[in-house]
Amino acid sequence: MNYIGSKLSLLEFLEESINKVVDKDGGTFCDLFAGTGIVGRRFKEKGYKIVANDIQYYSYVLNKHYIGNHKELKFLKLTKEVPELKKIKVEDKKIFVCNYLSDIKGVKGFIYNNYCIGGTKNKKEERQYFSDENGMRCDAIRQKIEEWKKENLISDGEYYFLITSLLESIDKYANTASVYGAFLKKLKKTAQNSLILKPAQLMINDQEHEIFNEDINKVLEKVNGDILYLDPPYNRRQYATNYHLLETIAKYDNPVIHGKTGLRNYDNQKSLYCSKPQVKEAFKDLILRANAKYIFLSYNNEGLMTLDDIKEIMSLKGKYGNFTKDHNRFKADKTENRKYKATRTKEYLHYVICD
Ligand SMILES: C[S@@+](CC[C@H](N)C(=O)[O-])C[C@H]1O[C@@H](n2cnc3c(N)ncnc32)[C@H](O)[C@@H]1O
Repeated sequence: MNYIGSKLSLLEFLEESINKVVDKDGGTFCDLFAGTGIVGRRFKEKGYKIVANDIQYYSYVLNKHYIGNHKELKFLKLTKEVPELKKIKVEDKKIFVCNYLSDIKGVKGFIYNNYCIGGTKNKKEERQYFSDENGMRCDAIRQKIEEWKKENLISDGEYYFLITSLLESIDKYANTASVYGAFLKKLKKTAQNSLILKPAQLMINDQEHEIFNEDINKVLEKVNGDILYLDPPYNRRQYATNYHLLETIAKYDNPVIHGKTGLRNYDNQKSLYCSKPQVKEAFKDLILRANAKYIFLSYNNEGLMTLDDIKEIMSLKGKYGNFTKDHNRFKADKTENRKYKATRTKEYLHYVICD
């Protein structure tokens, strides 16, 4: 997923830098602003136990699957509804179920009625986040997943796998420039293609992992790890508004929505890390109460906190240091954030070895 602040292209840098600081491989790696879960996945692959957290529910879902699921998904109970599954090899069941869902007929549900042109025509706000066909197919797939869950035909792991597959797939057909803060007037080429549900990757390993969906400053007391990796928002752009549609597809809770973009209420998801007057205090509280041997922080040179703020706060905990790397700016920032003209930013990995 093309996600603001994704560390996908920085994984090598992060891993190499972290390896230079920590004295041994393995233990618990806590990814507490987890987003897409890509950093936790890298360390899951290396054999760490992962603790993941994010304030957004769609991110919780992604992490429940990518991090939490670590055994093959067998869809044993679903054979009641899809008997053909019995004949399918275990490693092919995931794609079989996704194909089954891709083939079901679209329905006019919450997404179609509120975010597609067919469903919003002549209403106060006309919206076109998805083609009519994809909106209806998204509704049908999401409703079927929920029905299976209610009828106890799928396990929790299978449920999160299926919603993750839907979130990752539908995102590729969105009629947006990059995030869900706005939609395009005309249906772009990729949005015209028919939604196909692709199975999300599953990483199998032996560890049990823990996933939370809380504000970081609240979840902290439940978390105890060797490595604490922090990747907060860098600027004022709230994830709750930029990804509101993924939140609604993940929750599928028929929220009250408003305005041009059909935004849901996000009072409980306003991040202090996106607020210039509040970020330093929140970060200081986080660092002082953190329970870990090593704390790492990703941040860039254009973030709300300055290099000096970060250094001062992290030094309260032990020996401070940092690594840097030049990095391409996130696509949406180039057009929307005109304050910065440079196309490259300097990405920092700050760390403290705790006393
Ligand atoms: C820079 S992104 C993380 C990107 C992630 N490392 C990746 O590569 O996908 C920041 C994340 O922090 C989450 N977030 C913001 N404020 C938070 C808070 N107070 N508590 C927990 N998560 C928060 C956002 O929802 C967002 O997913």
